[in-house]
Amino acid sequence: MLERLTSQPPDALLALIKMYAADERPDKVDLGVGVYRTGQGDTPVFAAVKRAEQKLVDEQDSKSYLGPEGDMGFVEALMPYIFGSDATMGGRVQGMQTPGGTGAVRLAVALAQRAGIERIHMGTPSWPNHAQILSDIALEMVPFSHSKADGSADIESLLAAIKGAQPNDAVLLHGSCHNPTGIDYTPEEWAAIADAFAQTGVFPIIDLAYQGLGHGMEEDVVGLHKVLAAVPEAFVAYSCDKNFGLYRDRVGAFYAMTRTPDDLATVFSNANALARASWSMPPDHGGAVVRLVLCDPELTAVWQDELTQMRDRMRQVRARLAEAGVAGSVDLRPLADQNGLFAMLSVTPDQVKQLREEHAIYMAGSGRINIAGLHMGNIDKFIAALTAVTG
Ligand code: LMR
Repeated sequence: MLERLTSQPPDALLALIKMYAADERPDKVDLGVGVYRTGQGDTPVFAAVKRAEQKLVDEQDSKSYLGPEGDMGFVEALMPYIFGSDATMGGRVQGMQTPGGTGAVRLAVALAQRAGIERIHMGTPSWPNHAQILSDIALEMVPFSHSKADGSADIESLLAAIKGAQPNDAVLLHGSCHNPTGIDYTPEEWAAIADAFAQTGVFPIIDLAYQGLGHGMEEDVVGLHKVLAAVPEAFVAYSCDKNFGLYRDRVGAFYAMTRTPDDLATVFSNANALARASWSMPPDHGGAVVRLVLCDPELTAVWQDELTQMRDRMRQVRARLAEAGVAGSVDLRPLADQNGLFAMLSVTPDQVKQLREEHAIYMAGSGRINIAGLHMGNIDKFIAALTAVTG
């Protein structure tokens, strides 16, 4: 029977991790998968996380099951950061823990499908796993263009998608630090997006995987708040992979905002049923750690400081790239105003291969680079290689 299966290619992005590890060239540069790196090229555990982990080891008195919703202390501690001072939006928001942001996106779209959503409009390019998740649950994806060649967002394309949507359509948006382009909508554009959602009644699903890596924890949810203020109901998928550096611990959360507080019970009975049938219960450790960080003002301050340092360093790298102007045929100037870990360079798959084979520079086949893989010790090499390959 198993011979009926056809072989699947490995996930192209995750395959880069192994290729990079196997490369023995000492000056190799990893601009592949999205993990933050310091100016020394390391991805250390946050100091706030280390301290919370120690506390967890010392104080945790049971590892008994918590249930499909996971650690609700974690889920609720995040809410003021995501939704603002009225963290439940008048009792209309509730959440549950998920295995990473991927679990949150999967739960959001599967629940939307259960509620009758048939198609999801999605800007392209997007994080490749978005399309993989939709395809896996057989939900139709309707693409629209996310960005323009000049490095700005293609707002007209999104507004046309919302305005032309059919009754059982939803729209999936990145809350901030768009992956892979780094191109976010401006606050004015978010206001127009919110208006379009309000006028059409199209259901928004917002993936918030990089809060705090763009302009700040509050600044990075300005768009989300505009949309939530304009619509009766929405889903939010959240990841703590990057802003707490908890990648492999798989820490995420799913939130629903409903029309009335009474609707939450039914929504979460379905979300719990989907979670139970998929992963049963999320892994506890990372969620508990985030809860301990956010419930201790001293640890919260340490974490915020670390997040600020990350953000500032990525801004410096962006500024340095933009300063280089045009490298070969690649215009690096728009990168200064983009956000988060990623940027898309206009390079061909052959040029990506050449950068890898001839210069030991690893990046996604799409032309996406992880900004945080660059530092003062390798940025000049990168710019020179890009110039040589595309010039
Ligand atoms: C990325 O896009 O590199 C990260 O979000 C890691 C992943 O899971 O793809």
